Amino acid sequence: MTHSIIFDTDPGVDDAQAIAIALAHPEIELLGMTTTFGNVTIEVATSNALLLAELAEQRIPVAQGAAEPMVKKKNPPPGHIHGDNGLGNMALPETTTHAVEQSAPQFIVEQVNARPGEVVLVAVGPLGNLAAALQLDPTLPQKVKQVVVMGGSIREGGNVTPVAEANMFNDPHAAAKVLQADWPLTLVGLDATHRCVLDPASMKKIVAGQEKLGRVLEESYAFYRRFYQKAQGIDGCCPHDSCALVWLLRPDLFTTRQGYLSVITEGLAEGQTLLSPLEREFVDARWSIGTPKQVCLDANGPAVIDWIVEALTPTE
Ligand code: RIB
Ligand code: CA
Repeated sequence: MTHSIIFDTDPGVDDAQAIAIALAHPEIELLGMTTTFGNVTIEVATSNALLLAELAEQRIPVAQGAAEPMVKKKNPPPGHIHGDNGLGNMALPETTTHAVEQSAPQFIVEQVNARPGEVVLVAVGPLGNLAAALQLDPTLPQKVKQVVVMGGSIREGGNVTPVAEANMFNDPHAAAKVLQADWPLTLVGLDATHRCVLDPASMKKIVAGQEKLGRVLEESYAFYRRFYQKAQGIDGCCPHDSCALVWLLRPDLFTTRQGYLSVITEGLAEGQTLLSPLEREFVDARWSIGTPKQVCLDANGPAVIDWIVEALTPTE
């Protein structure tokens, strides 16, 4: 089955790994990429998305999106994690292509309305573009096929605060709108992605399987790996954003639970994501807004890594 996707991204080292999968996998039709601030500034995110498509020698529309959060003050991009250029501070070739005219929200609304019931939105950065698209066309939830969001954390704790995951923390107001809209949405958060470690041996196979993209994946991984060694004492990196695509193609590798999602938007716990399980009753309706969503609470890490390696080492 082919999945026609719009990839909403803040590339970003792990975003680049996921973009390489989206560009290569025969069951994925990449309709376009929409960019957002997050790991990098919006300008760098757009330039990196254009460059990755160029290196794969594919003409993929890139629509530029959110430059900052909906409400809160923007945090400086985490150059110590992804590099100031979002790809491990490696020397990058100049891009030769440009973003399309439409903004990211306009692009999303146009593509979904052109193909109602067929488009999957895969969002792996802060959620401002999807929130703005909902604002632009409030009937969007009835016309998308599926939304997959890399973000959030239910039991795993946070990676930028003790409770908040980066994509949610970077724009909690947008996250609340997206996670509580009435569309079919699966959340692939740290409860799943932290079970997956892309180790150096697997990365070596991937680099060998990629042509021009291989050098970017290799050098950006090396930078990201140093961060993970220092910050988490693991030798490798969590392929957070690739996990969103793995769920789409191999949902059997994940353990999920249905329930209502909410996002804390203010105060010490801003960006925290809460799951109110479908079968539980709580004191009042505040914890069950919108329609029930599917939340990944675990993953078969080794199998996810094997799938990623296979997706990025094309058979002869
Ligand atoms: O918390 C991990 C997420 O935040 C990933 O999408 C990573 O690329 C950053 O955007
Ligand atoms: Ca990302």
